[in-house]
Amino acid sequence: MESSFWKARWEANQIGFHEAAVHPMLLAHGARLGNAGTVFVPLCGKSHDMAWLVAQGLAVTGIELSDIAVRAFFAEHGLPAQHTRLDGHDEYRAPGYRLLCGDFFALSRDTLGAFNAIYDRAALIALPPAMRRDYAATMSVLAAPATRMLLVTVEYDTSVLSPPPFAVSAEEVSSLYGDSWDIEDLGTRAADVKGQAGTEQAFWLTRR
Ligand SMILES: C[S@@+](CC[C@H](N)C(=O)[O-])C[C@H]1O[C@@H](n2cnc3c(N)ncnc32)[C@H](O)[C@@H]1O
Repeated sequence: MESSFWKARWEANQIGFHEAAVHPMLLAHGARLGNAGTVFVPLCGKSHDMAWLVAQGLAVTGIELSDIAVRAFFAEHGLPAQHTRLDGHDEYRAPGYRLLCGDFFALSRDTLGAFNAIYDRAALIALPPAMRRDYAATMSVLAAPATRMLLVTVEYDTSVLSPPPFAVSAEEVSSLYGDSWDIEDLGTRAADVKGQAGTEQAFWLTRR
């Protein structure tokens, strides 16, 4: 999925992936992320999940291609954000939040800064297969040893629906991350995927 695809989606307000409520898998498993430290939220959109994380006492660092999404997040949460330029990214800060507007694949560890955990909902599964390989490899470079990750994937009948989101199996998660992360299966839940029955699966990963 090229940058232009996602920017056009935001410009046209075609954001069916954006949930009105905090994600059930975050409510079910988010306590594992703790209530101190920084959570990196890749491909964050304007997800309300970020506000839930901050409400737990965590700081959020997000990265998002679209400045429409980043500005909308702060506006919808009534947060005046400070804007600066940083290493080719636009950086927006408000208490608890540091949202970078730019390309995940162009992030360096210096620009991103330190983080203890990752929350990936609709980031890995937003990307086609070759990009998922690059994404997981980049994530493994960005994450220091002992970083934890709550990852949510989705599966559905691929003969009925076209991506995104992309169906990602447990086997693929193992293939993408198994070399450098310990992976725990946290279970599945039934989910609506673009009006069709699907399954979401949560994983808890720990960077070795
Ligand atoms: C499916 S949406 C999910 C958004 C959010 N995680 C949520 O749960 O609502 C994927 C988001 O990733 C953003 N995105 C796609 N490719 C990106 C990239 N290379 N770098 C940063 N953001 C990207 C898109 O603009 C879009 O907002």
